[in-house]
Order: sequence, then C-alpha cells, then structure tokens
Amino acid sequence: MSFKNEFILFSGSSHEPLAKEVSEILQRPLGALERNKFPDGEIGVRVLENVRGRDVFVMQTIAKDPNFYLMEILILCDALKRASVKSITAIIPYFGYCRQDRKSEGREPITARLIANLLETAGIDHLLTMDLHAGQIEGFFNVPVDNLHAQPSLIKEIKQDKRDNLVVIAPDVGSIKIARSFAANLHTAFGVINKKRIDPQHVDTQLLIGNVENKNVLLVDDMCSTGATLKHAVEICKAHGAKHIYAAFTHLIKPLSPELEQLVDHFYIGNTTPFTSNSSKVTTVSVAQIIAKAIHSVVYADSISSIFKT
Ligand code: R5P
Repeated sequence: MSFKNEFILFSGSSHEPLAKEVSEILQRPLGALERNKFPDGEIGVRVLENVRGRDVFVMQTIAKDPNFYLMEILILCDALKRASVKSITAIIPYFGYCRQDRKSEGREPITARLIANLLETAGIDHLLTMDLHAGQIEGFFNVPVDNLHAQPSLIKEIKQDKRDNLVVIAPDVGSIKIARSFAANLHTAFGVINKKRIDPQHVDTQLLIGNVENKNVLLVDDMCSTGATLKHAVEICKAHGAKHIYAAFTHLIKPLSPELEQLVDHFYIGNTTPFTSNSSKVTTVSVAQIIAKAIHSVVYADSISSIFKT
C-alpha cells in the first residue's frame, strides 16, 4: 500500500504482534515509544519521534488485563495530544468493558459509556473497532466510530475448509444479526438458541429454533469468554441431532477450556486478542488485512463500508 499522507501508527503493549502485522501490510514502521512503569506501578510513556501536525493511529486491544491496557491507551493519547498531533484515531480491535452497555438491574454502571467518555477526554478524534458487542455503543461516542467486521476473513477460512451440509446457529438472540449474515454468505439456513444468563460464568439454554438434525452446525458469536454460551449451544445442538459442530467468533477473551476443545470439532477465531494455540482444531484468523484497509480508507477519506461489500 502507498501513502501520500505521513501518518504514524503507534502500538500499545496489549497486542504488538497484531500491530506489527498491520504495519507490515502498510509498509510503515511502528512509531517509536518508550514505555516504563514507575515504582508504585503507575504507567509512563514517552513518544520518541516528532508527531507535531501528524495524523496518528494508536492500536490497543482492551483484553487480558483490561484495566492496565485501558489506562495505557489513555496515557498514550494524552502524550500524543500534548505533543500537538493533528488527529488521533484509536484502533481498539476488542473494545473491553463493552458488555456492560446498559443497566440490567438497579445500581449498576454502564461501563461502555464510561470508556467512551474517557477515550474522548484523552483526545481521540475517531475510533476504529471491530465487531462491537452491541452496535448502539457507537452512539456513546461524540466522535465518529467505524465498527469493522472480521466476518470476511472468518468466512474465507471456513470456505477454504469446504465445510458442507452446514446450518448457522446463533447461540443467543444477540448474535442473530451476525448469524443471518454468515448464513447469507455461506448460502445456508440459520437458527437461534434462546439463552438465559444466570451470572457471568453460567448460562441456561431453553429453546432451539431451527433444524440441526443430521446437519453440521456452525455456531457464530462476537466473542467467547468463559465458553459457557458455546458449551450450552453445543449441547443443545447435539441433543437435537447435529453431526459436527464448528464455532466461529471474532474475540477470544479467555483461553479455550480443554472441555470446550473436546466438544467442538473446529474453531475459527479472530486474532483481535493475543492468544496462541497449538491445537489442530483451531484456525487463528488474522484481522490485520481488514484493519490495514480501514487505515488506508481513513488516510484517503475513502468509504469503509465498501471494504465489506461482497
Ligand atoms: C453475549 O451476549 C456474547 O455475544 C457472548 O455470547 C458471550 O459474551 C460469551 O460469553 P461466555 O463465553 O462467557 O458465555
């Protein structure tokens, strides 16, 4: 890719391999930074190159140690703003704290909104993120938000593996939209499971709408965290006569449990969070190409939605 505009891409410390992949596709080195920790644990950063008047991109995924990485990107944006950059585009492949996007009971926070406020206060002018847990989180920001999708890359891998006799199943109603879109792209039927979350670690499934008998099921979701949603979905599909079970999702929040690896025949997982797996059952799907295209579109003021037109 070639650029007239001299933008700079910086990486926080949460997922440098992904930032490096993106920088290699863009053929631009990552911006130079010094990161340090004060003796009491406070985060320090220093930008080691001139950024005055430049458009900068700052990549940081907010997973694994979300409190640390959130604070680090806020501090990094503050340093860049005070160094007189022209604009800051935050690239947050996994937008942590997104699941607390409404009050489900009294006296609860809405953390997704709080994080939006913090990022804006730190000086971001634009956010690029991926498969937001709920599209309406975009509305928590006053700056433009582009919600990218890992689906084209996930589907490419699934098609390469020539999975046949498929039906796409959403493991909960929140994933219906994504399941419908996967089904349309793979030319399959789709269905949905009615899930009830009991607490952050446990779910209960009550109903499967759709026919999985003698079918190979592709379960699709935005994320897998404890794996409880996926486990219950597998169990209900198997109880209804499904043959093979595959799972595709964008964000892996916690490592896959051995039990889940046993239950699912193959996983397609976006690399928005840092994880490694030696299992032959796991295909790690890079989202770097999509992020690089989005950066290109921002730099050249091109359409981002056209990246996802099939
Ligand atoms: C829920 O609405 C999400 O789309 C995921 O289904 C959920 O967050 C997965 O979490 P867990 O793996 O802990 O069940």
